[in-house]
Amino acid sequence: EKGGYDTFMAKEIHEQPQAVADTLRGRIDEAGQIVLDEVRMSDQDFRDIDKVFIVACGTSYHAGLVTKYAIEHWTRIPCEVELASEFRYRDPVLDRSTLVVVISQSGETMDTLMALRHAKDQKARVLAISNTVGSTIPRESDAVLYTRAGIEVAVASTKAFLTQLAACYLVGLHLAQVRGIKYADEVSAILDELVAAPGKIAKVIEHLEPVREMARNSAGKDRVLFIGRHVGYPVALEGALKLKELAYLHAEGFAAGELKHGPISLIEEGTPVVAIVPSPRGRSLLHDKIISNIQEVKARGAKVIAICEEGDAITASHADFVIETPATPTLLAPLLTTVPLQEFAIELATAMGRDIDQPRNLAKSVTVE
Ligand code: M6R
Repeated sequence: EKGGYDTFMAKEIHEQPQAVADTLRGRIDEAGQIVLDEVRMSDQDFRDIDKVFIVACGTSYHAGLVTKYAIEHWTRIPCEVELASEFRYRDPVLDRSTLVVVISQSGETMDTLMALRHAKDQKARVLAISNTVGSTIPRESDAVLYTRAGIEVAVASTKAFLTQLAACYLVGLHLAQVRGIKYADEVSAILDELVAAPGKIAKVIEHLEPVREMARNSAGKDRVLFIGRHVGYPVALEGALKLKELAYLHAEGFAAGELKHGPISLIEEGTPVVAIVPSPRGRSLLHDKIISNIQEVKARGAKVIAICEEGDAITASHADFVIETPATPTLLAPLLTTVPLQEFAIELATAMGRDIDQPRNLAKSVTVE
């Protein structure tokens, strides 16, 4: 049932191109409009929204962090992302014009369910993104988009995450469309790029051998740090979470600009630092900034592994190792840049003799608060 792979996680990493294609299938109609699954909300309800909260836990929270950049850019609606376990205890300001997007692979995570119920008590509209048809979270929500990742067996989430991203992009584009599109050309170009994403994810998966080598070289280190900017920041958090879960190793993700405000003191001679580098095209300011961050950590002895766009010669001249991913719009890049980090974690954890599919102390679905 592992389909020839050593672990379910490896199998699920390889299923990602198909899973993302399944998420998108039939969701963009002939007129280029996004179709949600179950919607107990009118278009007018969507137009009345003046604030979005995204609430989730763990990897699903990271999908939410990426989505904030997309929703704010495409719709100009303010969007906040919050850990479900914190959300209701701080008494957030919610009303009928608030959309709360809850993301949960299992649809049964108790922290997320409690946050959803709190949002509903405050009369907010709730849209669920889930992989599990008929689970509690979608059933209690006003609108649902299923991710269609298929069953994910490994505790560490891989294909569920990528399909959450794809579904979240669809929600952002749906919101933009329902409300009248400010960046109509950009939105239709993004739709084309989303449809092209599964092929590019497959390309990333075909070229993972150098990642495995770097992961083996990093086994035995005390810690691994991950840095990113913009949507690369949540990808850094996700890369670190994968490594913590699987390898039981100190791994942390940082917004690269924060390094000099404290964490740079963690760097010793040989500390691996994985940098998620944005495309040098378009937002070149971001690219310049992360190159400076790479220089800062290298000057303190870090070994820099850069995940960058193919052909990025500037990054190649600064980093110790590069992993290239195909070109894609900045906001969609997490669909590609996350994949090498999944492979990095699985390989490093394997080198340390860990149980990949069933890491210690963890459950696939967390149904207690
Ligand atoms: O089922 P959910 O998406 O609600 O689960 C949320 C987290 O428990 C989950 O993403 C967890 O962080 C994964 N094990 C990460 O790999």
